Amino acid sequence: MSKVNLTPEEKDRERRLKWFRAARFGMFIHWGLYSQLGRHEWVMNRERIPIPEYEKLASTWKPKRNAPRVWARLAKEAGMRYMVMTTKHHEGFCLFDSKLTDYNAAQRGPGRDLVSEYVEAARAEGLRVGFYYSLMDWHHPDGARCIKDERARRRFVDYIHGHVRELCTNYGKVDILWYDVGWPLSAEGWESAKMNAMVRQLQPDIIINNRSKVPEDFGTPEQHITPEKSGRMWEACMTFNQSWGYTPIDSRYKDAWDVISMLRQVAAGGGNLLLNIGPTPEGNVPSVCSKVLKQVGPWLQKHGDSIYQAIDPMHSEWMCTGAFTRKGDIAYYHCNQWPGRQLAIGGLMNKVEDVRLMGGARVKFAQTKDRLVISGLPEKAPDPISTVFEIKVKGVAKQILGAGCVVIKEK
Ligand code: GLC
Repeated sequence: MSKVNLTPEEKDRERRLKWFRAARFGMFIHWGLYSQLGRHEWVMNRERIPIPEYEKLASTWKPKRNAPRVWARLAKEAGMRYMVMTTKHHEGFCLFDSKLTDYNAAQRGPGRDLVSEYVEAARAEGLRVGFYYSLMDWHHPDGARCIKDERARRRFVDYIHGHVRELCTNYGKVDILWYDVGWPLSAEGWESAKMNAMVRQLQPDIIINNRSKVPEDFGTPEQHITPEKSGRMWEACMTFNQSWGYTPIDSRYKDAWDVISMLRQVAAGGGNLLLNIGPTPEGNVPSVCSKVLKQVGPWLQKHGDSIYQAIDPMHSEWMCTGAFTRKGDIAYYHCNQWPGRQLAIGGLMNKVEDVRLMGGARVKFAQTKDRLVISGLPEKAPDPISTVFEIKVKGVAKQILGAGCVVIKEK
């Protein structure tokens, strides 16, 4: 955040956001009754499954014990710094024990509080803990009629606020509250301001997303990577295949190249990536996801500074061979399509002082005006996923973009 004179409210927000601004990478977990059907977490609604039929899934769900331990270890290994798990999705089934409904994991099939297991697992790996919670509820009798019946709205809003209170009371410190889908009410209808004031009273350090229909602490672009304006914090949430819930019929997964490209994009725009896994009903991570995350981890170990430390936004002119991230006078060029022995980068206006392969040797370069030519490179990319050049420039790294594009101003 570049603004100098912050209001007390903004100051407190920045205090709470500090770890999140540096986190860069988190694991989203969609797990619920729908995981048993394996056809997207919206299956109840998309296939119009009647409530009594869908409810049977609550007694047949028998996840194995402590499955989240494997997720948390995997997240850590992949270089993630936090996790966010669905505590209740639109289907209305609570993964936490609740005094407000018996439609919950402790009192049905699983026979225990799955949120507790998740929290313990994340903490054991030193990861921050986030709770996803869907306001929209397809199971609650007042979940839809609350829009036109005031008494129903009162009951339903009390129910929702009650859940949020339980989540903020029963699990120790919670780092993120991640609301979802505010259908069918408005912020006034949900009494969001009151609800979030209660949350902050119970969890003074928590950060809250923008999906209770009030902006709160950060934006949540979904399935696209678009920075928020004026330094407001944001987190792009993305699926691994096309669904959030376990969907084995969809085998088109992102690979390590895709994940690293997304990380580069969020780093360049000063945001975070919340990458989703949809575990099987037992709680196993789909093997493609763990394979890919186990490739991303070692890449980040070696190139971490170009992602976590690259805190200054830098627009890149689009180029076929890659794009930039930046910190001060270091510009990182993420070359993810290797051109061969020579790489030319246009538009970098600052004087280049040194170029090296990240974690490797110095390389030869020549600069004429806004053209940087790096030569003497190997025919094949040194890194099979994405090779990063660390380019030390004089002054603040900037790249002049093509005609009609934005120009990065020097500080
Ligand atoms: C959407 C979907 C939901 C998913 C969420 C994640 O709002 O309704 O299924 O949980 O996005 O951001």
